[in-house]
Amino acid sequence: MLKTQTTEQISGHGMWSSKLAFILAATGAAVGLGNIWRFPYVTAENGGGAFVLIYLGCIALVGIPLLMTEILLGRAGRHSPINSLLQLARRSNASRTWSGVGVIGALVGVLVLSFYFVVAGWTLAYVWTYAVELVGSHAFQDTPQAHFDALLASPARLLFWSSLFLAVSVGVVAMGVEKGLEGSVRLLMPLLFGLLLIMVGYGMASGHFLQSVVYLFEPDFSAINGNVILQAVGQAFFSLSLGMTGIMAYGAYVPRDMHIGKTAAIIALADTSVAILAGLAIFPIVFAFGLESTGGQGLIFVTLPHAFAAMEFGNLYALAFFTLLAVAAWTSAISLLEPATAYLVERTSFNRPVSVLIIGGSTWLLGIGSVLSFNYWSEFLLWGKNFQELIEYVSTNIMLPAGGLLIAVFAGWIVSRVIVREQLADMNDDLYRVWRVLIRFVVPIAVLLVFLVAAGLI
Ligand code: TRP
Repeated sequence: MLKTQTTEQISGHGMWSSKLAFILAATGAAVGLGNIWRFPYVTAENGGGAFVLIYLGCIALVGIPLLMTEILLGRAGRHSPINSLLQLARRSNASRTWSGVGVIGALVGVLVLSFYFVVAGWTLAYVWTYAVELVGSHAFQDTPQAHFDALLASPARLLFWSSLFLAVSVGVVAMGVEKGLEGSVRLLMPLLFGLLLIMVGYGMASGHFLQSVVYLFEPDFSAINGNVILQAVGQAFFSLSLGMTGIMAYGAYVPRDMHIGKTAAIIALADTSVAILAGLAIFPIVFAFGLESTGGQGLIFVTLPHAFAAMEFGNLYALAFFTLLAVAAWTSAISLLEPATAYLVERTSFNRPVSVLIIGGSTWLLGIGSVLSFNYWSEFLLWGKNFQELIEYVSTNIMLPAGGLLIAVFAGWIVSRVIVREQLADMNDDLYRVWRVLIRFVVPIAVLLVFLVAAGLI
């Protein structure tokens, strides 16, 4: 199927029906659990303001240039990431080994998805709870913390909801990404944005809004250490979906006349606003209800129910919120499946549905480890982390930035300048030079330095 799409490309029919379609799909990939679930809890674990400042710096200096780079490499290659990289290396007389970046990227996508779909399952479980609550029977009998703990303690419930989520994602990728995706992103993303604004409004009324603004934006530099910086870099990659060639896969279907720089800026802005709004919605609730901000991965699943319980029509808001969050997670999960699926389609004789079943099945098997990490295996620690935390830490904070570094070196030093400049033809010389300096020097050196600092070597 991807092969047909590639031929379509060549005959002039892009996969995305318009520039807007690509912006929606890429924003859909970027906005997800990373913004609403992960950003607030990782921010809290890393002390607030200073972390957010470094995170924003990473988005601007590393994120946007790399976002542009993945799109342009995809559009220049016009194939699945692995084959795009291979072709670009060939056309630039460079080693074919560079396509290995795509192989690793596809694997990292599976690693990230193996815990992502489990957390997405929590979201679905909450959708169910609030739906039951709405029809009148009390599903939410305990405190939010007890309710969340009970969910985590049950491997069967976790497995049920997460499998349901994964099955839907696999189904969509099997049918071809475009149709369901465009519609849901166009309609549901603005709704999610609106709902977040309502929650921020609720936070403003709670009297703890200013405290949250200070918490998020007043940098306390004494809280910074190598690990905090590494986490901020990792979160920037995770949130923008960078470093694993997912955006490159989407970039292959981008129309010729799309302005890559502007598009990257729009996607980054949309993604970052959702993360900041999520922070501004969640921390006032944490402070107003005297909750523990450093409660870790359960943060939104525990804090938001407190607010929903206190709000008028709270159950309705809750149902809408978790439904929209599940949709946001779903448009992201698709982008995590796409590179590995595209690879199998191109490399093997399997068709698209079989390929995505193989990838989805492997993800599911790996995901069982994450499911058990919240109960039976929770005490089984390596380097102080359980299986799920270890996969999350290594894939997000190490593999994504490492992938980004290699992509930057490839685009900045290996691919022929002509190919790159042609993709950025609509960019003026000054901006192009800025991009080039960022990609050749700033991104690789920054990522390398962060690794060295976090490893305690400097
Ligand atoms: N960015 C998504 C989120 O914030 C998750 C995601 C999608 C992702 N594709 C990715 C993370 C690729 C890392 C790499 O929820």
